[in-house]
Amino acid sequence: MISEKINEILNEQINKEFYSGYLYLSMSAYMKELGLFGFSSWLRLQAKEEVEHGLKLFDYLIERNSFVTLKQIKTPEFEFQGIISVFNKIYEHEKCITESVMKVAKAAEEECDRTTLSFIDWFINEQIEEEQNIKNIIKRLELFGDDKVALYLMDKELSERV
Ligand code: FEO
Repeated sequence: MISEKINEILNEQINKEFYSGYLYLSMSAYMKELGLFGFSSWLRLQAKEEVEHGLKLFDYLIERNSFVTLKQIKTPEFEFQGIISVFNKIYEHEKCITESVMKVAKAAEEECDRTTLSFIDWFINEQIEEEQNIKNIIKRLELFGDDKVALYLMDKELSERV
């Protein structure tokens, strides 16, 4: 049985994942405004992934005979200052999500909840991968600087994500 503390922290995590989806959709719209359709499409898929993460937690609570409490999703930022700034924001956001997932693991340890501990492992691994992917995009954006051809090629490459 999932304790009240674990239930609460998992419901908070659902909200954070859905918020991440909202934030990335907002960024996707911004990229579209800039004419960077590949970046826009990549962020839209990232948003979809975040919603899937939220649903994974949602399904877990139900499977464990616990209950889901959907909370209000806050309004994401919608004014951004350029591509690198967007990806730096994503990186900072993902670091907060990693911290949050680690808190779930710590709470599960404290509650001796081995099932949740094992379940949350998937999220920890996912966070390592996400942080790395974002960092790699930032590195390349910094390297290319104002080179518009490089940016065009990167946009094209990101548009291939399925
Ligand atoms: Fe599902 Fe990017 O955290």
